[in-house]
Amino acid sequence: MSTQTKLNAPVAEFNGVSFRYDGGPEILKDIQFTLSPGSFHFMTGESGAGKTSLLSLLYLYHLPTKGRVRLFGYPVDEMARLDRAKLRRQIGVVFQDFRLLNHLTAFDNVALPLRIAGVKESEIRRHVSELLAWVGLENQMKTHPPELSGGEQQRVAIARAVINRPTLLLADEPTGNVDDAMAKRLLHLFLELNKLGTTVVIATHNEGLIRHFGFPRLHLDKGHLSVVPQNQYKEMASKLFNRGGAQ
Ligand SMILES: Nc1ncnc2c1ncn2[C@@H]1O[C@H](COP(=O)(O)OP(=O)(O)O)[C@@H](O)[C@H]1O
Ligand SMILES: [Mg+2]
Repeated sequence: MSTQTKLNAPVAEFNGVSFRYDGGPEILKDIQFTLSPGSFHFMTGESGAGKTSLLSLLYLYHLPTKGRVRLFGYPVDEMARLDRAKLRRQIGVVFQDFRLLNHLTAFDNVALPLRIAGVKESEIRRHVSELLAWVGLENQMKTHPPELSGGEQQRVAIARAVINRPTLLLADEPTGNVDDAMAKRLLHLFLELNKLGTTVVIATHNEGLIRHFGFPRLHLDKGHLSVVPQNQYKEMASKLFNRGGAQ
């Protein structure tokens, strides 16, 4: 089966999706949402709300216990494992725990997706150096992950996830280990990728970023998902401000 992205199909469609880990309680309940091509969403919710679990359904690591997930137009539960693996190649993931390869340098971790795709070494050298410099790691390219700080490892993981310009980028709390200035810089990297057509979903607790960028939110609360439209925060803030100012 061909797993080319179907033209104009939503990037993801969740229909009545529930999920539980073997024998455990239902973590995600009757989830319904659509990601249009080129959209940008934050994913929010308290720790334990199910963000990482929902992302794992989006990158096809888990299948739903109930309901249907379509990715790039394909019903993922009906696909052969190999076809799911092919679809997954279009997805870049920044894992909450990074999952870097410790025996490879920062450079080689980021280069890996390009090497697998058969890109020429001279191009790899240019792309990877540029991107690592952009995330402030120009002096750590030859360092192995165990010798990097948490924030540095996080930036290597981000560079690895975006180097291939994936169709869908999923990032699980990608700014949890960096300061505010770097968090904004990384968000701008995701925005640039989004401008080139990548659909982006970023799980975050960072209220400052959510307010600053104002993207719509997939919000999880006790396993239920609601979609909060763009800029509601800004509108709420301006209403509060205007009420105070008008009296
Ligand atoms: N591998 C797993 N096996 C069983 N339960 C899990 C597993 N991973 C997460 N959970 C449980 O699922 C719930 C949601 O977790 P998670 O998706 O990690 O939430 P979040 O990312 O929002 O903090 C939590 O109650 C957590 O304990
Ligand atoms: Mg999580």
